[in-house]
Amino acid sequence: MWKNSVQKIHNAVPTVAIIALEYRITCMNYRTLGKTGLKVSEVGYGTWAIANDEGCWSGADLNESLKSLSRYVELGGNFLDTASIYGFSSTNPCQHGSEELIGKFLRQSGKRDKVHIASKIYPKNMKWPAWRAVPISEVFPASHIEHIVNESLRSLNIETLDLMQFHVWQDDFVKEDEWKKTIDRITKAGKVKHWGISINDYQPTNCLRTLDTGLISTIQTIFNIFHQRPTEKLLPYAKEHNIGIIARVPLDEGGLTGNITSATRFNKGEFRADYFTPERLLELDKHVLELEKLIGNEVKTLPELALRFILSHDEVSTVIPGMRKLKNVETNTAVSDAGKLSQELMTELKKQTWERNFYPDVDPSMAPSYLE
Ligand SMILES: NC(=O)c1ccc[n+]([C@@H]2O[C@H](COP(=O)([O-])OP(=O)(O)OC[C@H]3O[C@@H](n4cnc5c(N)ncnc54)[C@H](OP(=O)(O)O)[C@@H]3O)[C@@H](O)[C@H]2O)c1
Repeated sequence: MWKNSVQKIHNAVPTVAIIALEYRITCMNYRTLGKTGLKVSEVGYGTWAIANDEGCWSGADLNESLKSLSRYVELGGNFLDTASIYGFSSTNPCQHGSEELIGKFLRQSGKRDKVHIASKIYPKNMKWPAWRAVPISEVFPASHIEHIVNESLRSLNIETLDLMQFHVWQDDFVKEDEWKKTIDRITKAGKVKHWGISINDYQPTNCLRTLDTGLISTIQTIFNIFHQRPTEKLLPYAKEHNIGIIARVPLDEGGLTGNITSATRFNKGEFRADYFTPERLLELDKHVLELEKLIGNEVKTLPELALRFILSHDEVSTVIPGMRKLKNVETNTAVSDAGKLSQELMTELKKQTWERNFYPDVDPSMAPSYLE
């Protein structure tokens, strides 16, 4: 809708005014990120793929990624989600591609004070998700936590991280004290303002006992039309205890964009070649067909439906679609202005769940019955 309005204005007024008007038309709304108190844009920016990531993502054009970051901030976005491991390269393991590109953007634009930056500490044993039987001493020893915080500050070229998240978690870690003392020390040194956990995929309650400590301000969780289980316990907990919810993988890695079908094939070495197996793509076709029946007057596209579904939950502070393309930044940031979905549409969307869990095959102790 805003695009049409901009087009009409383009025809009527000189370019310089259009830019100013374009800011006003694409209105971004802000929510409080739980007890951090930070005011974050409803549409955040997932930066996993912006600088490619060996074995996961390829094909990013780093110049377009830089322009996309800049456009996102111009359009009112202020929450960047990155991780020390994003942009990994086995030939240069000291490289932190995503953080470094964000650092470059901040240096070039001088906009450090306009954005909140969240990064993540990867597990020292490099295992996703955190397995039940593996102790925290192998995953997040104090020296590793300290080392990654320092590395992230250096890569991003900033003094303080607004939010640092553990990149996997296992609720049994709550019994150990070393990580608690370590994050306290780092906070007091002024290196990190707030702490969060990016919880294991499809285990939305594998953090609740840890949240009871009060040391963690935010949870990053997969939450999308297909995976709605966070609404059962995690979101009510977050509301009661003022925990900021960051909704990741909102577009099901592209499955909820309508651009991926049973004819789609990913290059070997892309993680989506495993995520979207031919069998799963056939299933996806059927789910997308059902969702497309809900597109009409209220919502014009599938990505809009997916993002607005998430933002229709007040417990969510920000949704972080992964974006490498300028056009995706422009369309995704615009959904904030469109507001929540009608009750009728939400009722329909609640029927569209498609719960999946890859992990019991990898670690039998991760079967859904373990926690939920
Ligand atoms: N364990 C963890 O902590 C963890 C795991 C996964 C993700 N994350 C975080 O969550 C973020 C989001 O997840 P994700 O990037 O994996 O998946 P996602 O956001 O569900 O999907 C990203 C895909 O959707 C495409 N896309 C975005 N907007 C679109 C639009 N309007 N129309 C069509 N296609 C669109 C992107 O294309 P382009 O890239 O070509 O623009 C990309 O291929 C990550 O970037 C990362 O910050 C965290």
